[in-house]
Amino acid sequence: MSDFAGAAGFHTVPAAATIRANRSWWDQEAPDYLAEHGEFLGHDRFIWCPEGLDEAEARLLGPVVGRRVLEVGAGAAQCSRWLSTQGAQPVAIDLSVAMLRQGRAANAPIDPWPTPTGADQARLIQADACRLPFADNSFDLACSAYGAVPFVAEPALIMAEVARVLRPGGRWVCSVTHPLRWALPDEPGPEGLTVSHSYFDRTPYVEVDDAGRLTYAEHHRTLQDRVADLVGAGFRITQLVEPTWPEGHEQPWGGWSPLRGRLIPGTLIMCAELDQARPST
Ligand SMILES: C[S@@+](CC[C@H](N)C(=O)[O-])C[C@H]1O[C@@H](n2cnc3c(N)ncnc32)[C@H](O)[C@@H]1O
Repeated sequence: MSDFAGAAGFHTVPAAATIRANRSWWDQEAPDYLAEHGEFLGHDRFIWCPEGLDEAEARLLGPVVGRRVLEVGAGAAQCSRWLSTQGAQPVAIDLSVAMLRQGRAANAPIDPWPTPTGADQARLIQADACRLPFADNSFDLACSAYGAVPFVAEPALIMAEVARVLRPGGRWVCSVTHPLRWALPDEPGPEGLTVSHSYFDRTPYVEVDDAGRLTYAEHHRTLQDRVADLVGAGFRITQLVEPTWPEGHEQPWGGWSPLRGRLIPGTLIMCAELDQARPST
């Protein structure tokens, strides 16, 4: 990528390079990210998106009591802590040790996951969502609030892995950047309302340092691609949610702002289920 050194823009990169770059990026950014967004996300709330949709009201996951829940790309695991307070048995995975460390530190005061060994951190696991370290049929539910799915080159791998580790009939709900946003500059103001890029161009957005090393990558899927990834993994889509920007919510999150939020969707939440019987292969 020598011709692209020190730049940010659209450039093709290999899947493995994306994973490496994003692990470093989230490790480095974890403290700043949580300083900026931690209060909004809360300590043990399940917030799906910058629009502030809260699982306590939305109930997209359905009943969680006693359910084994996998949280994918959990960051500091706020959602898993909320699930724990609701009687679920969450396991939180993330690529970034630094993000998980913030979660581990946050767990300590409430000790939400006591185990006979006292290892309350045991259910925060560093893993790549494209290669989940769990046996088939390990979970009843899986969820993700902007974790992993928008960042990987091959999200179909995540869908296939989630389908594998869910039991038959299991449910998977994940939020991602709304595909429409790809066509617009990631700016909170009026400049973020004019189409500047093809919605159909899947070339990833990347950032590269002065030495030509990839430091960040985000991958686009159109709505059609997102649906195909889920259906291809054996899921049936039960609901697509495009949260509206609530009246009185004035707090921006990067390019998500009240101005844009009132005019165009910023988040897509996909709710899907597996059949009760696993198809024979
Ligand atoms: C925007 S944060 C979302 C986390 C949390 N829900 C929140 O709102 O803070 C994205 C998370 O996805 C994680 N992530 C990125 N790529 C991943 C991958 N391939 N596997 C697992 N986690 C990944 C990042 O480390 C980061 O913690």
